[in-house]
Order: sequence, then C-alpha cells, then structure tokens
Amino acid sequence: FQAQEVLRRKRDGLELSTEEIRSFVAGIGTGEVGEAQIGAYTMATYLNGMTTREIVDLVLAMRDSGTVADWEAAGVDHARVIEKHSSGGVGDEKITLLVVPIVAAAGVFIPNMSAWGLDYCPGEIDMLDSVPGYDGAPSVQTFVETVARTGGAIIGPSPDLAPADGTIFKVRDTTATVESVALITGSIMSKKLAANPSGVVISVGCGTGAFMHTLDRARELAHSMSNVATGAGIPSVIMITELNSVLGTTVGSAVEMIETVDFLTGAERDARVLELVLELTSEIIVLAGLAAGLDEARAIALEQLESGRAAAKFGEIMTAQGCPADFVENARDHLPSAAVIRPVEPTTAGHLASMDTTDVGLTLVELGGGRQKPEDDIDFTVGFSRFAQLGDAVGPGAPICVLHARSEAEWERGAARIRAAVTVTAEPAAPALPIIIEKIA
Ligand code: URA
Repeated sequence: FQAQEVLRRKRDGLELSTEEIRSFVAGIGTGEVGEAQIGAYTMATYLNGMTTREIVDLVLAMRDSGTVADWEAAGVDHARVIEKHSSGGVGDEKITLLVVPIVAAAGVFIPNMSAWGLDYCPGEIDMLDSVPGYDGAPSVQTFVETVARTGGAIIGPSPDLAPADGTIFKVRDTTATVESVALITGSIMSKKLAANPSGVVISVGCGTGAFMHTLDRARELAHSMSNVATGAGIPSVIMITELNSVLGTTVGSAVEMIETVDFLTGAERDARVLELVLELTSEIIVLAGLAAGLDEARAIALEQLESGRAAAKFGEIMTAQGCPADFVENARDHLPSAAVIRPVEPTTAGHLASMDTTDVGLTLVELGGGRQKPEDDIDFTVGFSRFAQLGDAVGPGAPICVLHARSEAEWERGAARIRAAVTVTAEPAAPALPIIIEKIA
C-alpha cells in the first residue's frame, strides 16, 4: 500500500477500492499516513466526492479503527440505546447537551459521541471542556458503565472509539474541507456505529450558519447518512433544520454552557431551541419504544423539563464525567469569563433583517474561541451572548449581541466584524423561519 498512489487516484477523480480505503484509514492509525497526506486526501475528496459504496467503506473503516460499544455485556436493554448527532451549526452545539439529559431522564440510554468545533461551527466537547474536571475521553468501559448507570454520557474523540475520526477531524477543521457530504457522513456515522445504538436521530443544518448552505446539499447529506444507517440495519430520523441565523442566544464555549444550564433549569428558554429540542427528544423517545407516538413522546419530554428531572439528570451526568457536583446550581462560579464583556450596538438603529452566520462563527475563531491550526488550544471565555434574533429591534440599549473578548483590541476587531456580518433595516424585518424544514425517516 502506498498512500500517494491512493491520493493520486482520488485526485484524478477515480473510485477507490474497499481495500484502498481500509488501508488508508488503517495507515492513519499506525502513523504510516501523515498529516499532510490526510490533508491531501480530504481536499481531493472535497473536490471529487465519493460514490455511495466508497462512503460506506469509509464509514466502516473509520468505525473499525477502534472498538464498538457492547451494551448486552453491561446489562443495558439494547432496544433503548439511541444516539443523536448534529451535522453542525453556529449555536447548535448546545442542543446535544439539552437532548441527552431529557431523554436519559425519560428512560433512554444515550451514549453520545460528539466532537470539537469544526471550522466556523463550535462543538460540544469544547463547551464541556470549559467545565473544570470534565473528562471527554474516558475508556470504553467507563463510558459504557456511565451510560448504564446514569442513562447518558457525552464524550469526544477517544483513542478507543472511532479514533480515525479524531485525527481526520483536526485536519478538516483547518483545511477548508469540512463541507463535504462524504467526509461529514464518514465522521458522523463512524461515531454513531461505534456507539452501537438501536436507532439514530440526526439534525442536518441548512443555511449560512451550517455547513450545507442550500436545501439540495442538506438533502444530499441527509440521504447519505440515512442510507448508511439503513445499510447498517438501524432506523434513523434525519431532520433538516433552518440555520440562517445564530441558534439560541449564545455562541462560544463557556457562554453556551450557561445557556444550557439556564434552559434546563427554566431560567431562560429560546423558542427555536425549545422547538428543536422537543422535536429531537420526541423522535428519540419513540425510537426507544417508550411512547406509542410523537405527541405522547413530546409530553414525556416536556415533563422531564418542567419537573426539573432533566436539570437534575444533567447534573448527575456531568458529575459522573468529573465535573463539580454543584455545577447546575452554580454554573457561573465554575466557568471562566472573559476580560472584556460589552454589548455591540449597530451603527444605525433598526431591525435585524439577516446575518452572515458563517462570518459570526469565523469571528469566534479569529478571536480565539475556535482553532486556526489543528494543535491550537481554544479560549473558552470567548463568545457572544444575548444574540438578537431575526426581526428584533436593535439600536442603543438593544445590542446585536454582547461580545466576550480577551482584550480591548480584540473586542474592537470582533465588534466591527459582527456589525458588518448583519443587515439592519429601517423597516420591520421578518422573524426566523420555523426551525424544522423537513424530516427524512
Ligand atoms: N459533526 C461531526 O462529528 N463531524 C462532522 O463532520 C460534522 C459535524
């Protein structure tokens, strides 16, 4: 096997064989394939795509770079093990942290394998890493035991479960090769299959705040993941979500942890976030066989939120993963905060009509809240809170957002970029469209 031969063939638009894909992914694990070659591979794949057969081979080779979780051995009812994922979105990463405790409180087992931020979309694991003590890469045994005991856990790339994804992911993050149906399917479905669930629910963002900017591309990705799930014998529900603006009111690691806790405790709940969370959790509860239909499942999910059981479950899961026992009660005391926190007002007052949400995400990266190089550490304090929603009045006293930055100079740079990323009109502007565009079951 010669990595450069595989690269030459993919570069020239040829179809790779199963053996070539398996050898290349195995070579990533042994170190035989280097980072520059992974970069060349991701760019060639981005440009030339992959056939359905190649995508399935990639998913299986990535899954087989590690082990697969065994639920029967842990005494868990496999029928109730359901996984969840999002293909990424600006502000979307907190959704997983909301879904996991709600469904775990309802009796589902959810072994969630999430990810770091990717290009301009932040990630769940960067959020969780902002909490002292959080262990996002436990052994498979600890992961399985935590899920068996508490009903849920959220982990990141680990040396045991789909480790090839962790390596390829870091290279994609900084080489402008994320928005590829083949690579996103490989990344997401290898992790979902390694967690070995009985069903999966996945959201695919569509719009400037997601990787798929058009409905056609979002549908292509949704069908690609649905085909892989069907091929693996697992029922799936894939939802295409409307992400042409920031989802919820915060973007960034520590600030999104605060929005997560405030949502679960009921202190503050953004309407689009609530709608998406209820849609996802009800599909998961039905797949787990805990409700006969979506209306019953939605009532169960809402009950977990309203009774405080979801907030308590979140605390239990966080503690099991190494976080302070009083994290939910005192989240603000446990999280780092930025040196400069100030509202960004628009240059002229009016109504928020649109946003270049990709640029909002890229501003976060530029200010240190995301990675520019694979080895970069990110600053958990950087982010945006109180982000205005489309249609909101903005002006003096009604900011576009509150910007959390490391210094005055960075705050000024970030504020200028955010002002340029939004359109403010004198006449009233339309609110965001409904969060769910369509579902593919
Ligand atoms: N989430 C992942 O885990 N991988 C992707 O490629 C995109 C979103």
